[in-house]
Amino acid sequence: MKKHIGAKTVVNPHPTFVVGSYNAEGKPNIMVVSWGGICCSDPPSIAIALREATLTYHNIMATKAFTVCIPSTEHLKEVDFAGLYSGKEYDKFEVTGLTAVKSEVVNAPYVKEFPYALECKVSKTVEIGLHTQFIGQIMDIIADEEVLNEKGWPDIEKVKPFLYGGFGSRAYYSIGAKLEKAFSVGKKFVENQE
Ligand SMILES: Cc1cc2nc3c(=O)[nH]c(=O)nc-3n(C[C@H](O)[C@H](O)[C@H](O)COP(=O)(O)O)c2cc1C
Repeated sequence: MKKHIGAKTVVNPHPTFVVGSYNAEGKPNIMVVSWGGICCSDPPSIAIALREATLTYHNIMATKAFTVCIPSTEHLKEVDFAGLYSGKEYDKFEVTGLTAVKSEVVNAPYVKEFPYALECKVSKTVEIGLHTQFIGQIMDIIADEEVLNEKGWPDIEKVKPFLYGGFGSRAYYSIGAKLEKAFSVGKKFVENQE
């Protein structure tokens, strides 16, 4: 039997992004963002939703730039710290020992220890309510060579990203096993299979 559970923000799992930004004086900060995702392929763009209460919101308003860093499971504790505490209270790079590196293409830092980062400049902001959505045009991606596959794409099994389970678990999850080829397995319904 189906049950109504109400108007809630549940699409678990969510991605675990780490958003890098500078304040107006150039001090780097990171925060965790799960409410986000790719939103356009041309121009290549990603959307992240932030509360005004975060330092990152004000940093991005000032600089019009941010990075979306993709962390590996090995840095789960550092990532959680970045989602628990504000840069208003702590220098999160100093506390975690992570390294901020200035992007060569946008005015924002990325995390050196994380396998890759999308370097974005703000193209639009959409005030929704508690959250404001920042649309970032992806100007470049900086990646560790070791996580790229033979075609030059970040390899999910080498990157080892992790997910946030959202309401219902409030826990982090690793990626499971590969299932089937996308844009392929569904063809069986209309194409003859020998
Ligand atoms: C798993 C996880 C996901 C989060 N996702 C978001 C999000 O999508 N948007 C948001 O505004 N805050 C989100 N947060 C909370 C912020 O990361 C948190 O408020 C952080 O302290 C803000 O940092 P800042 O003030 O240094 O910018 C999330 C926290 C965690 C742990």
